[in-house]
Amino acid sequence: MKILVIGSGGREHALAWKLKQSPYADRIFCAPGNAGTAEIGENVAISASDLGPLIRFAKENRVNLTVVGPDDPLAAGIVDLFAREGLRVFGPAKAAARLESSKIFAKELMREQGIPTAEAGTFKRSDDALRFCNPLRFPIVIKADGLALGKGVIIASDLVAARSTIDAMMNQGRFGEAGRRIVVEEFLRGTECSLHALVDGANYRLLQTARDHKRAFDKDTGPNTGGMGAFSPANNWNAELEDQFHKKIMRPLLRALQEKKITFRGLLYPGLMISADGVRVLEFNCRFGDPETQAILPRMKSDLLPLLEATIDGNIDTCTIEWDPRPAVAVVLASVGYPNKYETGKTISGLDAAARLDDVQIFHAGTKPVNDEVVTAGGRVLAVTALGSTIEVARARAYEAVSRIQFENCHYRRDIALSAITDNIEKLV
Ligand code: AMP
Ligand code: GLY
Repeated sequence: MKILVIGSGGREHALAWKLKQSPYADRIFCAPGNAGTAEIGENVAISASDLGPLIRFAKENRVNLTVVGPDDPLAAGIVDLFAREGLRVFGPAKAAARLESSKIFAKELMREQGIPTAEAGTFKRSDDALRFCNPLRFPIVIKADGLALGKGVIIASDLVAARSTIDAMMNQGRFGEAGRRIVVEEFLRGTECSLHALVDGANYRLLQTARDHKRAFDKDTGPNTGGMGAFSPANNWNAELEDQFHKKIMRPLLRALQEKKITFRGLLYPGLMISADGVRVLEFNCRFGDPETQAILPRMKSDLLPLLEATIDGNIDTCTIEWDPRPAVAVVLASVGYPNKYETGKTISGLDAAARLDDVQIFHAGTKPVNDEVVTAGGRVLAVTALGSTIEVARARAYEAVSRIQFENCHYRRDIALSAITDNIEKLV
């Protein structure tokens, strides 16, 4: 089979790496890809948002399956366009991808079905939003309705901050059209967990759980990022929570979509907040998480390709997924300044020395090949994943690999998966 992976991040490298291991995969294309995907397949110089050229490429090269990585092309309807041309594609159609591309749509659907989530109001007018905020207990959370490169969620500590955020989003156009409508919701306390489900319209299979580290700096300080590291399995998950998740979240969600005649086929990644009174949905994502995928896929023993095909064909219920029981830790190496301004074009050294370590996998994100070198080309540069017999071993191995890699202006968190270890120790004493 010829497979086209759309996107250029660590998630896409991990997907291409895993798909390449399938005995059914002959050629892997990545559009536009990075220096890592260039080593396992062929990069194609088409941006993930250039839908017309992507369709032309898939047709001309007789691509058998296209896997869409990022949210933007899904929200723009890439799956509908590919399907209209008779091209096989993994990902939800535009109407289903609204679960991620419109937080208001997702919130209203959850409210209709009683799916546990933060109490919220949804607004089209800034004066209505402000009136709603007035009596609330702070902090509160203000979210742009649409996609905003992961920056559209603001935690306002008081009314002054809420007022200026609402004004910036709704009146000044800070996130363009995405922020013209907003959600204002209660601030939830607890710990977060990322679930991933392959959903085939009627049924689903869960992947292993993971936890992300969203803030830029150690001890969860600094600005929110796309994710600075992840580990799998999550240490705050158990069978009782999973039971709640099936009954209170997944089943009602699928029922609601069916009632609306919306078929979701693809990867659904609910971001959850776990607190003393149970599990609540923070958001729905309609694609694999980044960097969660870099921690989850190295643990998957099954072939990913038939699982994606079964999802498209509506028979995921016939599949079982085998997992490596060993935990995985993925540490993201970023450019100093990310998620704000940063420099690129820095030579990366030590990649081979790091990759020689056992059970270590290096996934590229913002990298590109220049002559015989690999240089930085983005905010998140690499994700270094290690498996280990325990989370301590996986973590030590990941950081050992990280210590072998150098580039100017490299920044990474030193505390990825540390909470998993200290929480274990707390449980022991
Ligand atoms: P979202 O894009 O909605 O997942 O939000 C991004 C991040 O903002 C989440 O992963 C949380 O860390 C944080 N967040 C979102 N909503 C809430 C909430 N209601 N309470 C606390 N933190 C939140
Ligand atoms: N890890 C966060 C995301 O993929 O949205």
